[in-house]
Amino acid sequence: MAVSQPAKPGPDLGVYLHWPFCQAICPYCDFNVIRARPMDQVAWAEHYVRELNHFHEFTPHHTLRSIFFGGGTPSLMQPEIVGLLIDHIKSLWQAPGAVEVSLEANPSDASAPILSGFANAGVNRLSLGVQALNDSDLKGLGRWHTSAQALKAIEHAKAIFPSVSFDLIYGRPGQTLDAWETELAQALALAPDHLSLYQLTIEPGTAFERAQARGRLIVPEEDDMAGFYETAGALCAKAGLDAYEVSNHARPGAACAHNLIYWRCGDYIGVGPGAHGRLSADGQRYATVAIKKPKEWAASVERHGHGRANMEALDKKDQLTELLLMGLRVQEGVDLARVQALSPGGLERNIMGDLQSAGLIATDALKIRTTQKGRAVLNAVLERLLN
Ligand SMILES: C[S@@+](CC[C@H](N)C(=O)[O-])C[C@H]1O[C@@H](n2cnc3c(N)ncnc32)[C@H](O)[C@@H]1O
Repeated sequence: MAVSQPAKPGPDLGVYLHWPFCQAICPYCDFNVIRARPMDQVAWAEHYVRELNHFHEFTPHHTLRSIFFGGGTPSLMQPEIVGLLIDHIKSLWQAPGAVEVSLEANPSDASAPILSGFANAGVNRLSLGVQALNDSDLKGLGRWHTSAQALKAIEHAKAIFPSVSFDLIYGRPGQTLDAWETELAQALALAPDHLSLYQLTIEPGTAFERAQARGRLIVPEEDDMAGFYETAGALCAKAGLDAYEVSNHARPGAACAHNLIYWRCGDYIGVGPGAHGRLSADGQRYATVAIKKPKEWAASVERHGHGRANMEALDKKDQLTELLLMGLRVQEGVDLARVQALSPGGLERNIMGDLQSAGLIATDALKIRTTQKGRAVLNAVLERLLN
């Protein structure tokens, strides 16, 4: 694929690095993760550097906007390795403006010295996987930290990083709406800039799925889940955190720039085992995915300079599906001009009309957006729009 010389700086770029290693696999998690074993992180970093160089060949003129260390458990990385990778990325792509550099950390790894190490390495946004603020639920979720450790980690993070977010999972087995309200009030009292509130999903192949199949794990009913979602939106809004995406709430200016690239169907490269990417080059849009198994990914990088399992051009129908799937998750919605460019006929007027009168979407001359009510039933809205 030939890369032409653009007149002006290329499109914004997000760089996602997947570090799949975890001290323990949580019973609800279906991310691409494996148990961490003693390893030579310098050698692994070399693989990431080579794959970054590979993807730079397709994006030499892109403008770096964000770097995101996700996992797995990136907080198991040595800060020097994180620093090395950040410096390498910044040496490859131009970055005229501020670059958001996020790292996902487990509270069990988040001591002040380690967090300071990540901040000195160039991380300026920390995302803590807190999940719950009571010990019995943390035990039920298979987490290695206590609520006291989580509160300490949040305190350290706020003292060290300009931007801090933490994740909570709601809809946990046996969780009541009252308990969720109390926990959320406690979380909001910590005055985070950003909160990610995820409804517990029972994923195929996880220990939670097996327990559910044996009747040993019962999650709240769908109606209760809707109550948890509405409560989250209401309490966050009252505390000044806007629901800018289905699961994400932020103070003005604290939305996650990296994730917004995903939701706006911008360009991002995915480096590391199982990482996904989306690249625009010469009028085409490509989807990339890396080999999942870390050893096989590393072996492929050694042989070919990258661990790509696949790279395919997305046709206009695929692109339209992604544009709506991702774009209608965020409050800002989707540009109708982009819809038009991918499907000259645009979206079905009568279906849009139905969804609008049901109060699930709102449109104007420029945009189609979901309402808060529409975001609560996003799959049903997309089902109508795309079929
Ligand atoms: C990539 S994971 C974060 C990994 C990090 N090592 C951790 O556990 O803190 C991102 C977030 O997804 C959420 N998550 C993962 N699996 C989930 C599930 N089955 N249901 C709901 N949320 C989930 C959790 O809140 C988690 O913090």
